[in-house]
Amino acid sequence: MAELSVCSPAKINLHLEVLGLRADGFHELAMVMQTIDLFDLLRLKPTADGAIALHCDHPDLPTDGSNLITRAAELLKARAGLPELGAEIALRKRIPIGAGLAGGSSNGAAALVGLNALWGLGFSPEALLGMAAELGSDMPYCLAGGTQLCFGRGESLEPLEPGAADTLAVLLLKHPEASVSTPWAYGRCRELRGAHYLTGEPAFAERRQALRHNPLLPALQRGAALPPLRNDLQAVVESEVASVREGLVLLRRLRTPLAVAMSGSGPSLFALFPDLDAAFAAQVELATDLEAGGFQSWACGLSPAGVMLVA
Ligand code: C5P
Repeated sequence: MAELSVCSPAKINLHLEVLGLRADGFHELAMVMQTIDLFDLLRLKPTADGAIALHCDHPDLPTDGSNLITRAAELLKARAGLPELGAEIALRKRIPIGAGLAGGSSNGAAALVGLNALWGLGFSPEALLGMAAELGSDMPYCLAGGTQLCFGRGESLEPLEPGAADTLAVLLLKHPEASVSTPWAYGRCRELRGAHYLTGEPAFAERRQALRHNPLLPALQRGAALPPLRNDLQAVVESEVASVREGLVLLRRLRTPLAVAMSGSGPSLFALFPDLDAAFAAQVELATDLEAGGFQSWACGLSPAGVMLVA
């Protein structure tokens, strides 16, 4: 194949519950994840020199071997046993970095799907999901997208019917100078709450079952008023990051949101609305305060798809 592009969407967490610690040192989680219509674009060209050359239009993003795009490319080459495969990858970054929107994981997932097609490797969707799970806890979800229950480290997926989630929309806020490290947020959560973590598989299984029957899920299907959203990392991050506290005050002042919460380990925040018009109206309503607080904002729809090849 000569050249192709891959759409790499952001996600938000509609529920993030920290259950306890796992034997591998990661946290056992119960989450509802949702892709949104805010996406990066990867443009891929094959080369024959065995090198992965990554270029990005965002100056702050490392483009060396630590980037999940490069790591995904090297893993694919190793699994295919074809070290001579090379690619030039241009990344157009629109998802804010270090924001709790899984931009990096989504880019890695997009590289897996795109390079599998570009190099004609023929790995199955299941094989790509397995590689994604090796690279990062959120990466399998980013491959699949839509509305999903995510358990385990985050890699164990149970898709939900899209229902009304297709027409819902968000107003997303992030302060450009705030960024939260995911390992820091989980580490701090453990310091603060570790003594009260659940232990043992039966206790974890009970919480997973509770999430499958959470009133949030039918409310999402109907696009009706939602119960308050739960994100266990929000209290941890809110107490340490001033812009998270300030952004939450602004969003909670809005007249008609269905719900307000932080996404993932933050610091991005969102208010959920029945449709895109309502999200745009909220952006206009808050415009003066957002500018005064120095916030960036995006109004966008929820999306039923994960990473996607686009010609
Ligand atoms: O899997 P990923 O590399 O995205 O995780 C980043 C970090 O977030 C981990 O190194 C760990 O500190 C924390 N984490 C965790 N439990 C999870 C997922 C992530 O403690 N389920």
